[in-house]
Amino acid sequence: MIPMLDLKTQYSTLKEEIDERVRDIFDSGAFILGPNVMELERRVAEYHDVPYAIGLASGTDALHLALKAAGVGEGDEVITTPFTFFATAEAIVYCGAKPVFADIDPVTLNIDVAKIEPLITARTKAILPVHIFGHPADMDEIMEIAARRGLKVIEDCAQSFGASYKGRRAGSIGVAGCYSFYPSKNFSCYGDGGMIVTGDAAMNERIRRLRNHGSSKTYHHEEVGYNSRLDEIQAAVLNVKLRRIDRYNDNRRAVAARYGERLAGLPLSLPVEKEGCRHVYHQYTMRTERRNELAAHLHGAGVSAVVYYPVALHMQKALAQYGYAEGAFPEAERACREVVSIPMYPELPQADVDFICDAIRAFFG
Ligand SMILES: Cc1ncc(COP(=O)(O)O)c(C=O)c1O
Repeated sequence: MIPMLDLKTQYSTLKEEIDERVRDIFDSGAFILGPNVMELERRVAEYHDVPYAIGLASGTDALHLALKAAGVGEGDEVITTPFTFFATAEAIVYCGAKPVFADIDPVTLNIDVAKIEPLITARTKAILPVHIFGHPADMDEIMEIAARRGLKVIEDCAQSFGASYKGRRAGSIGVAGCYSFYPSKNFSCYGDGGMIVTGDAAMNERIRRLRNHGSSKTYHHEEVGYNSRLDEIQAAVLNVKLRRIDRYNDNRRAVAARYGERLAGLPLSLPVEKEGCRHVYHQYTMRTERRNELAAHLHGAGVSAVVYYPVALHMQKALAQYGYAEGAFPEAERACREVVSIPMYPELPQADVDFICDAIRAFFG
């Protein structure tokens, strides 16, 4: 079976460097908020051309703490997309706020910026775009609406490390960019991990405090916070991979380009890259009305194919309290019926790409 991703192959190329760094950590006895986390924070901030990056325990925590530090609280509303992983909305709910969904653009699958403004109320505090599958959301329009209406913009960058929008890194445009380093992400560690990048000194200070039990001085607690620290071992893995992230993303882009060439002309919608955007293809996600048949055909041919996401967030049982009904967001619902993602990772052999494309071509006859 050709897998969706292959972490073992990548590890085999990094083993010596990672093992040495991890041995050093074991020898040093410094496991939490040590030199590896500091190095990673400095380098990720530089990579984004922003002054601050804060290592955290997960991407979900990154969203939660960024929203909280941006002042989102009880009774507030945050506008986001219904076509994303559940954690995007969960983080809003953690703050006591309501996720207010805006339908998506069927081409990029990102939030449809034309749908945002009519949803703004006196309670709206922030907009939370997700750069879904590695393609940046329409940040100029989002920032323009936010500036005009006095809202904060928090970017969910869990799937978009290294993506850029009109020459700026995704994650550096809003007041904060939130990363997940979950193993399947395009920039990932070997467990859970997350990070916030920000240019805002007050956000940086508050998030550093929140991640460490509300304390900036040991055993002095200014507020009730959380235990949400990135650990040294995960930071060491990320430091090793950060040097290679641009090459990994270039390889993903090369795989996507070959998919694009070999699948052209079929009755399938392929991913697009809008002008001025650098897509990092966290996933290679196609659309067809015959999605279920195509996925079954691929499985039969020995090719993995996964549906991200089968259920839009407004239809999730856990969010039923907000009263959204089926039909509320037709584009997101249609995407849930039509999308399918196929194998995508930097080391995916060209022969496998060609095999996958042949299998898809055979399906459409
Ligand atoms: C878009 C999006 N947001 C948030 C998250 C949450 O990240 P984590 O699993 O690190 O908590 C993920 C991935 O899991 C994601 O894909």
